[in-house]
Amino acid sequence: MVRQRPFASAQGDRDTRQLATTALLPGNALEAESSGGYNAVAMENDNRPQNIYDDPQFFEGYSQMERFQSGWGLAMEHSSFVELVGDVSGRRVLDLGCGAGQLAFYLAEAGAAEVIGIDASERMLDVARAQWTHPRISYRQASMEDAGFPSEAFDLVVSSLALHYVRDYAGLVGRIARWLAPCGLFDDTAATEIYTARGLADGWVIGPEGTRIAWTLDHYADEGPREHRWFVPGVRRYHRTLSTLLNGLIDAGLVLERVMESTPSDAWLRDRQQDADERRRPMFLLVRARKA
Ligand SMILES: C[S@@+](CC[C@H](N)C(=O)[O-])C[C@H]1O[C@@H](n2cnc3c(N)ncnc32)[C@H](O)[C@@H]1O
Repeated sequence: MVRQRPFASAQGDRDTRQLATTALLPGNALEAESSGGYNAVAMENDNRPQNIYDDPQFFEGYSQMERFQSGWGLAMEHSSFVELVGDVSGRRVLDLGCGAGQLAFYLAEAGAAEVIGIDASERMLDVARAQWTHPRISYRQASMEDAGFPSEAFDLVVSSLALHYVRDYAGLVGRIARWLAPCGLFDDTAATEIYTARGLADGWVIGPEGTRIAWTLDHYADEGPREHRWFVPGVRRYHRTLSTLLNGLIDAGLVLERVMESTPSDAWLRDRQQDADERRRPMFLLVRARKA
C-alpha cells in the first residue's frame, strides 16, 4: 500500500513534478493555472461548511495516508499532541472533527469519563463506529459550526487538524470557551498560518533540477478561504494569521498555556528521510489554553 506524506497528495506530487520542468518566475503560466495559490475572492460569499471527507475520491486518497487508522500513532505531531493533552482521567471530553476516532479512542482508554466525538463526515464516522468504538465514546454527525452543548459541559475540548476548515473561528472558539467548565482545557492542533498561506499549489519553489528551493508564503495578511488540490481540486481551508489564531483564544477568555510548532524530531526522521523537508517549515501549530 502506498502511504502518503503528511498533508501531501499524489496529485500534489504531480503538481510539483509539473512545476519542476519550468523555472518558477512571478506570473508563470503554470502557477496561474494550478489550483493552488491565492484565490479567496471567488469564495467570499460561500458560508457552507465543506464536507470534503465524504467525497469518494477524496476519501479514497485520504484513507491511504500513513496517519489514517492505526498509523495515527506515527503521525509527525502525535507525540507533541499527546504531551499537550496530558492526564485525562475522569474528564468529560469533546473531540471536534474527530474523524475516524483514533484520538477519541486514545482518550477513552486513557481514562476519560466520557468522550463525545463530532464530525461532519459520515464516511469518517463509519470507520470510527466500526473500528474505534468504546463504551465511553459516543460519535455524532454534526458540523462544528452547528453543534450545541450546555455551558460548562466539558473539562477538556480537543481538536486535531480540523479548525482550519471552519470559517468563523472566533465564533467557534467563543462557544468552546462556554462549553468548558472552569479550569477546563482546550487542546488544538491545526495547520500553521505558514502552511495555509502558501503561495504555490504545493507550496514549494522547485528548481530546474527538481529539488525544492524554498517554501513560498504569499498574501499573508489576507485571511479567509483558500482552495488547493489535495486528492481532488478545491479543498478549502481557512487561512488566519498567527495573531488571529492566538488572540482568538485570548479574546474568548482563555489563558494560553503552551504553543508548539510541530516539526519532526531526529528520531521520527530516522526511518523517513523522504520527509526531511518537514523541518524547513512548520506544518502544525499546537496550542493549549485554559478557561480561567
Ligand atoms: C484531517 S481530518 C482529522 C481527523 C482526526 N481529528 C485526526 O486527527 O485524525 C479533519 C476532520 O475534520 C472534519 N471536519 C472538517 N470540517 C468540519 C466541520 N465543519 N465540522 C465538523 N467536522 C469537520 C472532517 O470531516 C475530518 O474528519
